[in-house]
Amino acid sequence: MAEGDKLFHLARKALERAHAPYSGFSVGAALRTKDGATFSGANMENVAFPEGWCAETSALAHMVMAGYSEPGCLAEVAVVAPKKDRITPCGGCRQRLAEFGTARTKIHLCDQTGIVETVRLGDLLPMAFSDLPSI
Ligand code: THU
Repeated sequence: MAEGDKLFHLARKALERAHAPYSGFSVGAALRTKDGATFSGANMENVAFPEGWCAETSALAHMVMAGYSEPGCLAEVAVVAPKKDRITPCGGCRQRLAEFGTARTKIHLCDQTGIVETVRLGDLLPMAFSDLPSI
C-alpha cells in the first residue's frame, strides 16, 4: 500500500476520536515525517465554540511531542471528513503545517473511500509568511 493510502486509513481511524458535538463536523488527519514516523489526530471542540482546534493541529501536536520539530521534517499529510469530499486544510492549519513542512510537502485531500487529489503545501499556501523553504 502506498504511503499516502496508509495515511488515509490512519486519518479515517482518527476521526472516530473527533470531539465535535457543536459543529457536528468530524475531521481526521494523519501525517508522516521524512524518516517515516506517522501520527494522527482529530478535531477537538468545546462549549466555548469556536475555541477548539483542528484535526491537523492535533496530529501536529503528537508529532512535535514525539520529538519532531526540525524545519522540513513533515513529508506528507492526509485529511478526511465524512461530511465533505476532498476536504482542504483551513488557513490556520496551512500555516501550522508550513511550520514543519516544505513547499513540496504532499497534502492528500480525501473522501470516504480514499485520496481524491494530492496537492503541494506550497500551492495551498502561496507567498506564506516567512516563505516556505524551497527544495
Ligand atoms: N476543522 C478541522 O479539523 N480541520 C480543517 O482543516 C477545517 C476545520 C474542524 C474545526 C471544527 O471543529 C470543525 O472542523 C468545523 O469547522
